[in-house]
Parts: sequence; C-alpha cells; structure tokens
Amino acid sequence: MRRKLAAGNWKMNGISASLTELESLATVHANAGVDILICPPATLIHRAAETTKDTGIRIGGQDCHANAAGAHTGDIGAQMLKDAGATAVIVGHSERREDHDERNEDVRAKAKAAIDAGLTALICLGESLAQREAANTLDIIAGQMSGSIPDLATGENMVIAYEPIWAIGTGKVPTLEQIGEVHDFIRTRLERRFGEGVGRSIRLLYGGSVKPANAAEIFAVPNVDGALVGGASLKTADFSPIISAL
Ligand code: G3H
Repeated sequence: MRRKLAAGNWKMNGISASLTELESLATVHANAGVDILICPPATLIHRAAETTKDTGIRIGGQDCHANAAGAHTGDIGAQMLKDAGATAVIVGHSERREDHDERNEDVRAKAKAAIDAGLTALICLGESLAQREAANTLDIIAGQMSGSIPDLATGENMVIAYEPIWAIGTGKVPTLEQIGEVHDFIRTRLERRFGEGVGRSIRLLYGGSVKPANAAEIFAVPNVDGALVGGASLKTADFSPIISAL
C-alpha cells in the first residue's frame, strides 16, 4: 500500500516571512495520515526544517549537484541539503532541464547522489506540448525513465512525478484519461525494470496546475499517489484543501 504524498515546490519564491505558511500548514496537517513534503528555496531549508520539527511535515531541496562536494560555485550537494534538514530533493524538474540544459544522464547522476546521501529523489518526467501533439508522449516518458532513473531505485528512496510541461503554471490540465494513461505506462515499466514488488511500491505523483478545484478528481485516477504542486503550494489556504483531497 503506497502512502499518499502531497509535495509542494515553492520554486524561486519565499523569504523568511513565508515560514508563517508552514506554521499554519502544521496547525492543520501535523502528523496527518498522508505524507507532506515542502521544497522551499535552499535559503529557507534549514529554517523550514526547524519550523516543521515534530510535525511530520518534511522539507526537501529543489535540486542538488551530482558530486558530493568540490569546486562548483553556487551549487549545493545532497549531503548539504540533508545536513540542513532536508529528507528529499527534486531532480530533473523541466525548469531545470530547460534553464540549465540538464539531460537525462545529469538527472540520473543527481538522483544517485541524492540517494547515496540518504535523501529521497523526486524525479520529474514530462513531455512538451509539441511532443504530445506529435503523439510522442509515451516515447518521451520511456526515454526519460530509462535515462533518468538510477538502478538503485526503491519505494523508499524514489518518487516519480509526471509533469506535462504544457500544464505547468498554465491552468491547463490533461484529461483524466491522459493522466491515467501515462501513470499506468510508468507503473508498468517500473514493474518490468525493477520487479513487481519494487515497481508497485514507487509513488507516482501528477504535477501541473493542480488546484483545490481539480485535486480530488486527479487523485481518483488509478496509479496517481499524490501531487507535485507549484503555485498552489505557496499559500496554506490553497495547499491545505489539496492535502485534504488525498
Ligand atoms: O513542481 C511543480 C510543478 O512544476 C507544477 O507547478 O502547480 O504551478 O503548475 P504548478
């Protein structure tokens, strides 16, 4: 049985004052029956972890370097995230793939570094609008899976988020059938590669314009184990009803 997971990606948003959102989130959802992960900007990870201490709400990073340490100005290693209080890290978000030219092999190396450091790697996959319109979605997902997911994946150390690029921050959401088709496809391939036990234990999140109004119907789709939420995770008033819909 996979535990439901609501993950919030704050992206490049949030300053000290934003920590009050975590306080109010904890007031309503501390030690809930579902997993909650908030990925604030790196500057807030330590304080966010302190703010959510003993609430069951977990804190994650939004990226990590593939190397543990070294001469990489501006980058952050997975062990550093862990030391700051993170238990997970997003890797391969489409904004990183695009803005920083990250390729599948980079994402795989980062995921491996995260897992080696004891973090859960939350690996993002997703097609562009042009790829969907060309009916290439499943081929793209298959390539991203084989290229980005390291061999040491388990249900504990890895989560996968399916995020169609054209649905991120746009208010556009795939049909429930489209979401179901991709999630079933990912599940089948995970089972084939890692065996039924591990393949069935890895959680699959949907991401892209998840809001309080559409969360429940998306969560009812088979093989959707939760959501990776961007904009609607910034305010507890928006994120709380999404968590409650799990
Ligand atoms: O990481 C989160 C996703 O990119 C979704 O963002 O909920 O603002 O569409 P969004």
